[in-house]
Amino acid sequence: MKILVTGCGGFIGSHLCEKLLENHNVNIVGIDTFIGPTPESISRQNLKNLLLHPRFRFVEENLETINWEAYLQDVEYVYHLAGMPGVRSSWGSDFQKYVINNIDVTQRLLEASKHVPLKKFIYSSTSSVYGETVGKVSENARTEPLSPYGITKLTGEHLCHVYRKSFGVPTVIVRYFTVYGPRQRSDMAFHRFIKNIIQGKPITIFGDGSQTRDFTFVHDCVKATASVLYADGVIGEIINIGGKERAPYWISLRKWRNLLVIRRKWFLRKKQSGSRSIRGRISTKQKNCSLISQKLIS
Ligand SMILES: NC(=O)c1ccc[n+]([C@@H]2O[C@H](COP(=O)([O-])OP(=O)(O)OC[C@H]3O[C@@H](n4cnc5c(N)ncnc54)[C@H](O)[C@@H]3O)[C@@H](O)[C@H]2O)c1
Repeated sequence: MKILVTGCGGFIGSHLCEKLLENHNVNIVGIDTFIGPTPESISRQNLKNLLLHPRFRFVEENLETINWEAYLQDVEYVYHLAGMPGVRSSWGSDFQKYVINNIDVTQRLLEASKHVPLKKFIYSSTSSVYGETVGKVSENARTEPLSPYGITKLTGEHLCHVYRKSFGVPTVIVRYFTVYGPRQRSDMAFHRFIKNIIQGKPITIFGDGSQTRDFTFVHDCVKATASVLYADGVIGEIINIGGKERAPYWISLRKWRNLLVIRRKWFLRKKQSGSRSIRGRISTKQKNCSLISQKLIS
């Protein structure tokens, strides 16, 4: 089974490739060009194990200019994770990067995919498409992104829908809820918190620290994402992939601090535009996902 994974050098993409390769029938072509918020040298480290794997082939190319024909041949499944992540930096002059890497690139890949007999095209989207919500969030909840990042990812979702309807590209959308764990991007909160605690530097929290998130451990995230490959009846669906751990940032931060047994000053900053306060997010399809994950593991 040949699978193409875009963004394979990223935080989630590298874990996903490792997970998919646990199935001995899987061969992966992974594409990345190391342009995310994480420094290139660190992203290259993410590929350390994969580059040694006999069923993994790495292609260092920019998806904006790549010749898809050469890489989509005989591919049955596409996981499209490449993109420009991060809410805060999507404001201002960097917006163009988001348009190119989240919208243009997705459209180019979908356009190329309409000529290929794919079984599934799985697009990694985000809970940022929901915007500000309180209580449970189901996949049917209104989408009202509060950041340019959320808008570009939602546009990518809409492109998936229209390419499915007009050309039969078998798209499935997965929406991730704040993922954490080894190799987490250097711009993300837990990475910054832990790094600063270790280095004895003060920690900056946007808002008052009471914003809650559904934190998703990366191994759970990729288990659920990988299981979509084997799931029936998911084409055209949107699936929330969220963790069970829900907490305000300040509690998470206190846990980290206690874990590392270091006391430092915390600095609170005014809530930045685009930072959401999401309470009680629960993924209604989470249950289904863990069931299909079990299918994959057993
Ligand atoms: N990490 C999270 O908590 C989270 C939450 C919701 C959604 N997502 C989505 O999941 C996906 C992966 O996120 P991540 O945290 O692993 O990010 P990441 O930055 O670690 O990985 C993305 C990878 O895509 C690559 N890439 C981007 N544009 C490219 C291009 N034009 N050509 C080739 N490669 C390109 C980058 O170099 C990077 O390695 C993204 O689409 C993101 O929007 C992530």
